[in-house]
Amino acid sequence: YKRITVKTLVDMKSNGEKISMLTAYDYTMAKIVDGAGTDVILVGDSASNVMAGHETTLPITLDQMIYHASSVVRAVNRSLVVVDLPFGSYQSDPKEALRSAIRIMKESGGHAVKLEGGKEIKDSIKRILNAGIPVMGHLGLTPQSIYKFGTYTVRAKEEAEAEKLIEDAKMLERIGCFGVVLEKIPSALAKKVAESISIPVIGIGAGPDVDGQVLVLHDMIGMTHEFNPRFLRRYLNLFDDMTDAIAQYVDDVKTQDFPNDSEKY
Ligand code: KIV
Ligand code: NA
Repeated sequence: YKRITVKTLVDMKSNGEKISMLTAYDYTMAKIVDGAGTDVILVGDSASNVMAGHETTLPITLDQMIYHASSVVRAVNRSLVVVDLPFGSYQSDPKEALRSAIRIMKESGGHAVKLEGGKEIKDSIKRILNAGIPVMGHLGLTPQSIYKFGTYTVRAKEEAEAEKLIEDAKMLERIGCFGVVLEKIPSALAKKVAESISIPVIGIGAGPDVDGQVLVLHDMIGMTHEFNPRFLRRYLNLFDDMTDAIAQYVDDVKTQDFPNDSEKY
């Protein structure tokens, strides 16, 4: 595939090709993620945690999301760039939701937006879709409503919550979303959802029987090291490697090993 579009992703699902998705929040990282062949780059509101050090995703603003997204868009040649609408930018009414989505599309150049929730935000999603902006849903564990649940544990283990999740996923497909993220739910339920709808289901902590996977970049390359959920596979241990490299640099400066004769003018 050349440039990935929302159509490409739906085609991938019908062809049985799994979709790879990772977060990125800045130009330099996005250039690597795009160049390595990732299908979708998510400018996640996890930037609130990863980039800004907040405990939750709630504090990040629309302006800050636009700053991150515009940096990512400048780096990307192939990946589809999906941008999270942050907490407070779409929940109050559909008009505000549309205004926020339009700002993201105009000011960052992102290709699609993602919103957390099901039927509660149906009208807002419809409004955004009506403006021609592709929308990705996000069900299961929805970090923007963490204070309603109180924990980051697995969601939809009970029958009633599982039923609602399936209904919400079908609704998202029906009104025209191009995909949906399922976060931290039982693998059997995620499989059922992926089989019930024809738009791609991208899982994080949702098991193997979905149409693609997403992880937070800084977690999968091991730059962070205190967050250790079962679903996280670390491909590098950059926290340790970077700590060693930086400690070496500090030592080289102190001992005047750096810079040496070939490193000066
Ligand atoms: O913000 C984010 O990183 C996300 C993914 C975990 C899906 O929404
Ligand atoms: Na998010």
